Order: sequence, then C-alpha cells, then structure tokens
Amino acid sequence: MKKQNTTREIAGENSRRQFLKLAGYGTLGLITGGFWPRLTHSAASEYPGTISKTEFLPDLDISLVAQPDEVAVLPGKLTQVWRYHAMMHKGDKNRVIELPRSYLGPIIKANKGEKIRIRFKNQIPDESIVHWHGLHVPAIMDGHPRYVIPQGESYLYEFEVKNRAGTYWYHPHPHGRTGPQVYQGLAGLFLVSDEQEQAVGLPDNEYDVPLVIQDRMFDPDNQLVYTSGHRMEQMTGFLGDWIMVNGMPDFILPVSTCAYRLRLLNGSNSRIYKLAWKDGRPLTIIGTDGGLLEMPVNRQYVFLSPGERLEIWADFSDSPVGFETSIISLPFDTGGMGGSRMERGMVMGGRMGQSQSLPNGAGFSIFKIKVAKHVKKIQPLPQKLSEIRPLKQDEAVNFFRPRQFYLTMRHMQWSINGRVFQMEDVADDEIVQLGSKEIWEFNNTGGGMMHMMNMPHPIHLHGKQFRVIERSGVMHNGYVDEGWKDTVLLMPGERIRILVDFDDYPGMFLYHCHNLEHEDMGMMRNYFVREQ
Ligand code: C2O
Ligand code: CU
Repeated sequence: MKKQNTTREIAGENSRRQFLKLAGYGTLGLITGGFWPRLTHSAASEYPGTISKTEFLPDLDISLVAQPDEVAVLPGKLTQVWRYHAMMHKGDKNRVIELPRSYLGPIIKANKGEKIRIRFKNQIPDESIVHWHGLHVPAIMDGHPRYVIPQGESYLYEFEVKNRAGTYWYHPHPHGRTGPQVYQGLAGLFLVSDEQEQAVGLPDNEYDVPLVIQDRMFDPDNQLVYTSGHRMEQMTGFLGDWIMVNGMPDFILPVSTCAYRLRLLNGSNSRIYKLAWKDGRPLTIIGTDGGLLEMPVNRQYVFLSPGERLEIWADFSDSPVGFETSIISLPFDTGGMGGSRMERGMVMGGRMGQSQSLPNGAGFSIFKIKVAKHVKKIQPLPQKLSEIRPLKQDEAVNFFRPRQFYLTMRHMQWSINGRVFQMEDVADDEIVQLGSKEIWEFNNTGGGMMHMMNMPHPIHLHGKQFRVIERSGVMHNGYVDEGWKDTVLLMPGERIRILVDFDDYPGMFLYHCHNLEHEDMGMMRNYFVREQ
C-alpha cells in the first residue's frame, strides 16, 4: 500500500511535468490582452507566451534566460561564460538587478508572500533546470534534475515566497552537470525581505552589500578552465587559484564611515572559506542561510562552505578615511589527518593537477575594504534581530531513533548510506510523512579502511530550512548553527543532528553534498514526502 502510493504520486508529478514543459511551448495566442497590463508587444514577441489559462496572478513576472555570453573578467581577451539574464514583465523594475561587469545572474528581490512567476528559457547548448536554493517551494518548482529541459525549451515556475527574509540563491541542477554549469557562470542571488526584517532597521540600499565568493581558473587566453574530469580531481572537487567576488578578481569594496550589512554567499564549487577579518577583530554575524539570527553573535572565524550564506554586520564609523582591511580566509586543515593526507597523496601520487596551487585550506585574502568617504550616520547594532521559535526536539516523530545518514566512499565514489543518486530512486528509509517533524543525523565519521579518505562535506536539503540540534566531533568552533539553515558543513570526524519539519509540500526532493563535483558524481539522493 505504502509503496504503491508513492509510485502513484510520482507518476502524477510526471504528468504535471509534461504539462509544464508543454506550457513552456505555448504560442503567442495564449497571451490574452489585458492579462498583463505591462507586457509590451515587443516583450511578448521576444518571449512568446509561456502562460496558459492559469489562475496564478503573479506579483512579479520575470523571464530568466540562460545563454552563452562573454564578459571582461581579466585584462585582455573577453571570457566566454554562460549567464542568466532577466526581463521583467510585471512588477517593479528594481526587483531585478543585473550586475554589469559580471558573469553572475541578476539579483532577484522578492517580498515574503508575493507570487512569483519565472519563465526560464534554456539557451545554453546543454540540458538545464533552475533550483531555488533555500526556498520553500512545491516539488515541481524545485528544479529536480528529472525536469531538465534541452536547449531552446522553457520551464514555467510559479510559486509563492514563503521564506523568511534572507539571502537565497538560484543555480542550475541537471544531474552530473551542475558543477560545470555553475562554474561557467550560472548562479544568482534571490533576496527575500519581509515586514519583520524591515522593522529591525538594518543598513539598506548601498549599505546592504551582496558578496558572492567563488574561485576560478583561467588559461592564458582568459578562458575558464574546469577540472579534467579525472576521478581523482572529481573526488576533491574543483579548486581555482583566482578568488572572485561578484564575478570580479581582486575585488575592493569602497565603504563610508558607517554600518554595513554584508551578505556573503559561497558560490564556489568545492572551496571552503574560513572567514575572518584581517585586522583580527571578531566577525559579527547577524544572519545565516535562512535569514536573520535571533541576536547577533561574535566569532573569531567562521567556515563558509559551498552553498552556505552568512550575513555580517560591519561598522566602519570609527575608522578614518583611508583605512583598509580585508575579509580573509584563514588556513585550515581540511579534516585532521584524513583530508590532508588524501590531498597530499593526490599531489604526490596522483596527477599534479593545477588545482593544487591553491589547495582547500590554504590562506589568502578574499576581498579588500577601503574606507573612502566620511558620512555622519550612526546606526547601532540591533540586539534583537528576529524571532526564532525554540527548538523542541521531542516533537520529532523519531526522537528516540533519528534517521541515520553516513557519508562514505565506495569504489572511489562518494555516497550517502552507500547509495548514489538514481533519478527516480527513493529507498524505504528516505520516505517521510507529510506533517511530521524528524531528526536526521549525518555522520562524516568515515569507516573501515577508508577513514583516511575523509573529506569535508556540506550537506544541503532541498525544499526545507532546518535547525541544527547538535554537533559533535572534532571542530566545534567556526560554525554558526544558531539560526535557520539549509546547508551545513561536516568536517571529517563530525556528526550533526538536524530537526526538519515536513509541514507541507509533498513529493520528491533532493538532499546532497554541495561540493558540486561530489554532487555530480552521485553524492545525492531523493527523499520523498508522502501524503497521508
Ligand atoms: Cu544549491 Cu541541490 O543545490
Ligand atoms: Cu561531499
């Protein structure tokens, strides 16, 4: 009974998928006059009707195209990239911010409660689909790899923004191709605001700065170099020797003598940053993946692994004009004995990949900050940032027997509980009940003879923000586990317990390692939320 139920629902989703794909092919005739007051004729002919007779009335209606492009990244030749471009059909034009000198996609800004329509058009010569990382959306809107569309096709997204205010993002999610596509430039921020956030009174406009951190490697012609595809390089993940911020090398942020909200996203394929101020003062953290913390916390350093976000309060009101500092990445060991031994092994025994010039855990500067202007603007750090309901782990249906996930390696292949990704595959222990709360335990504790092959793994759940209940193992500093999370880093030897509330949205979602090369090689699984 249980199994049949699952199959039926999955089949149901497939027909819906067919519908969405067809809807993406709609003809001009389906656009009726007056349906979108602001849709101009030229817009309509450039982006033919993605819309059929649906009752969804969007507050924001956006076309998002993934296409080949070229940008000036380094002096000299332009760099070939893939890039998202957006066009607004309905809604305030300022809700989509293109970054002029960058390969990154536009920043999309939405408010909680708004209805968003995004007509994604794939114009890259590869299959693709868009995932809204961190957003709580129905399964069909989540960008599962089985919904990939080939070049020339469209996919229609319609969802309500249910998330708290925070820094979310979007990127491709085709199976086996997420790493290279993100690397080519396909990624963008999705910022959500809400009334609670606005009531706190944080720095806004030019004082609210998004900073996407990534690493890249260029050939002498300024073209992007990705991994060779060799198994050993996949095992570590791609590591570049240029640290980019918002798609730019040697990034400098000019600031005024006042307070800033810095929103950091690690959009790298596999590099982990151990963030700190160069001048040694502690980082003041105000938010993480799922928005603002309850109150600010100070840390001497914080790990930021691929997919994670961090919001920092930075106040330069005491600094003179001309003052310079940096956000740096401190050197660290990628995992006690295990990780480093593996990387050393790779350098000596494996291919001398170029990526070894800046291994994971190396120290470097990420970007510079220069105090350039004096302003009279006093803004104290709010001591109360948001409301976060207390953790009630005993509400979990499996309080006494948490679901167990082991991050392991098998036959030179990273896996979860010994399994690798299969498009439609859900194991019995990957089915949860809609309406239940569960504790999930992830173990990066290795096992058996493979313990020396341990590596850090950032674990990401689709569709849900969760809470970290408990972390144990070797490294207790450098994490901000206090708030809402959708991606958590597990260093080798660590074990973590999270509390997930499957309160709504049935269907199939992913959980995976956000080291994109690990994900692409199959360190990813489906979980299924079953309705009664
Ligand atoms: Cu940002 Cu499935 O990932
Ligand atoms: Cu991993």
